[in-house]
Amino acid sequence: MLIKRPGDIAPSEITPRTLFDQRRDFLRQSGAGLIAGAALWAGLPSGARAASLGALSKSAFSTMEEMTPRKDVTSYNNFYEFGTDKADPAERAGVMKTRPWTVRIEGLVNKPRTFDIDEILRMAPLEERIYRLRCVEAWSMVIPWVGFPLSALLKQVDPQGSAKYVQFISHYDPKIMSRLPVLDWPYREGLRLDEAMHPLTLLTVGLYGETLPNQNGAPVRIVVPWKYGFKSAKSIVTIRLLEKQPETSWNMAGPEEYGFYSNVNPEVDHPRWSQARERRIGEFRKRPTLPFNGYADQVASLYSSMDLKRQF
Ligand code: MTE
Repeated sequence: MLIKRPGDIAPSEITPRTLFDQRRDFLRQSGAGLIAGAALWAGLPSGARAASLGALSKSAFSTMEEMTPRKDVTSYNNFYEFGTDKADPAERAGVMKTRPWTVRIEGLVNKPRTFDIDEILRMAPLEERIYRLRCVEAWSMVIPWVGFPLSALLKQVDPQGSAKYVQFISHYDPKIMSRLPVLDWPYREGLRLDEAMHPLTLLTVGLYGETLPNQNGAPVRIVVPWKYGFKSAKSIVTIRLLEKQPETSWNMAGPEEYGFYSNVNPEVDHPRWSQARERRIGEFRKRPTLPFNGYADQVASLYSSMDLKRQF
């Protein structure tokens, strides 16, 4: 992966512990909660202006772990269409227009449809899901995403019996995005249909109670918390149901390094670095990486008949 190693994170990119604690205390004392927290940081460079997503239901799938500050979630990003440096997306993705925006669902479905983003926002009750995000580069964050299960969207198009896989295609506009052959554009990812229908797989429209900043994949992205972060495609415009396993950008770029499944697995190292431990952004010590990123109870059964060291 043409990426910075975790050790390359500049100290200035990481919130000092004392500052982080002061922010949390402020939010607690003001009794303000998430929405106010997001407003507090609205002045930071985070692409197009975020809008509140209103009342959100809480999810039983949320982790109780300490959340990564919004500033870090929105300034330390991978969005290679806007450059390969972690700071590039926050600086450059603001030019992407996220209205109007449509998502086309096609392929092996009985009711192919193009959904407007505003239809998607009204489709199902929005939930806050506090998930761990584990990047293949061995750093992690805890992010309060906002969205609803992808299954609610897929059910609307009535998948055919022969559909076994789902491909996600990100928006690509060479006028404002990278033309370097870093990856084969547009960015493509994929899941098996049962993975896509799993209740943990989130169609994501926001974070910290507000619409997604552009650098985090506005206006709509996928979040699959038990897989390495690159499986969670940003700014999607097409969802295609297929019989055969789809092409995916990272797998095409390096099949030995980035498997189709890419379930978080501390026992399967990346050929160039260990996956046994990770560094939570904002912390200096490393912590052990958990199988399936801590979601084994919910998802391990999806892979009971597979050799996960071979099908990584
Ligand atoms: N989606 C697109 N379209 N382009 C990308 O470069 N990077 C992936 C994923 N989705 C990427 C993408 C990777 S490597 C990670 S770790 C996550 O987005 C990062 O999401 P975040 O920046 O919101 O934390």
